[in-house]
Amino acid sequence: MNETDILARVLTRIKPGANEHKKMREVVDHIIALIDQVVLKHGLSGVEAVLVGSAARGTWISGEHDLDIFISFPEDADKEELKTKGLEIAKEVASEADGFIERYADHPYIHADFNGFKVDLVPCFGVSSASNIRSAVDRTPFHNQFVLLKIKGLEDDVMLLKQFMKAVGVYGSDLRTGGFSGYLSELLVIHYGSFNEVIRAADMWKPGITIDIINHGTREHNDVLVVTDPTDPARNVAAALVMDKFASFINTARQYLDKPSIEMFHSLPAGCLDNDEFSLILNKRGTSIVVVLFDKPDVVDDILYPQLFMFHNSLMDMVKRNEFSVHAGDVWAGESKAAIILEFQVSELPSVKKHTGPPVWAKQHAEQFKDKYQQQDIQGSVLSKVYIEDGRYRVDILRKYLSASDLIRHDIHTCRLGRHVGESIRSGFTVLQDMQVLDIKDYSFRVFLNGFYNMP
Ligand code: UTP
Ligand code: MN
Ligand code: MN
Repeated sequence: MNETDILARVLTRIKPGANEHKKMREVVDHIIALIDQVVLKHGLSGVEAVLVGSAARGTWISGEHDLDIFISFPEDADKEELKTKGLEIAKEVASEADGFIERYADHPYIHADFNGFKVDLVPCFGVSSASNIRSAVDRTPFHNQFVLLKIKGLEDDVMLLKQFMKAVGVYGSDLRTGGFSGYLSELLVIHYGSFNEVIRAADMWKPGITIDIINHGTREHNDVLVVTDPTDPARNVAAALVMDKFASFINTARQYLDKPSIEMFHSLPAGCLDNDEFSLILNKRGTSIVVVLFDKPDVVDDILYPQLFMFHNSLMDMVKRNEFSVHAGDVWAGESKAAIILEFQVSELPSVKKHTGPPVWAKQHAEQFKDKYQQQDIQGSVLSKVYIEDGRYRVDILRKYLSASDLIRHDIHTCRLGRHVGESIRSGFTVLQDMQVLDIKDYSFRVFLNGFYNMP
């Protein structure tokens, strides 16, 4: 199949049909009418509902029922009033929904479920220009205006790019994914002109590439990809994109240019490791796996994942400082449990540990070091006399923890822990090693393990 046919086939699957457009319109009209009603009832003037995001731009993918509806307050409204009144209006509107929860961005907003549609009801300031924004979400209506002006005729290309990015696993600017946002994919299509042109450009991308559609950037950014926000010269729309998602996109773009296929637009069903496969992998690799398992804090992913990454990095530093050698590591969160996973090249060390002292010519420190270690009985924790190596004093002593899992069990509390993960760890955790890891029965963990070992 040639590329044109492939893209046409993908579009028949991902492009919303007339029915979906109609249903979407009905739900939007219903919600906007509700907002108007509530606003009127409260006697608020100048507060209005605005549809933004991919639903407003005709760039959503069929079946993705995500509506972004902003409740816009006058530019000079009081911030406290926006917070309390805005949330009150959103809650009142959401009382008509099938369910809703409060979420927090710059300020609180409501995430509701209307008829199978996931609806964000977000209060914002309707500022007159993007340079006057008063809260982080105030930019969004300007994104909307910019995209609407430029996107006519390119909607299909945006859908194709979003679907391609989803299949690669790089779509979404949330802190867990660290990928490309919807707005970013729209800007890329606007800048390069089509899905195919974006892919061809990505083939040549290198870290640091800068795209400034209207040439107005005012700041240097230290990010892998810089796309200056056309509505804000100081902001990089791609700031959330992490190196490996950037690289994965380039890599798959290249595969696509080499040989395009429909399959590249599908996310492959994720493989899953059973007990036998897991033990075979352990034997073949000869590494040891250590899993720190704890209760998953009840917070949104954008709060949870940065804390999991921080914990992971801190554990990694700790085991390396203690001379264990790590091959790979990652984080996982399921329904009720979360975990840090480390694969060790060396997870057991001998009793002897080289303890390094000062250089010989640091006279005062040298004396203290010699005093401390020469006095000690060779039968105790000191295993040698003080000796010199590369100009420094050294002494062989007994290692405190011979295994990485022991070290982790005892010293975990010295790790840098974010607030919620810290509370969870303090209330208890387990350290599982090798075959014990199979005690975690969670299907999504077995899928995670398959990916962790980069199994096909
Ligand atoms: P969404 O995350 O719903 O994205 O944010 P989207 O563009 O509608 O794409 P899909 O199809 O739902 O995946 C809604 C709007 O909020 C702003 C953008 O203007 C976006 O269009 N936004 C969101 C950002 O500026 N940055 C973000 O990281 C997320
Ligand atoms: Mn959206
Ligand atoms: Mn949304």
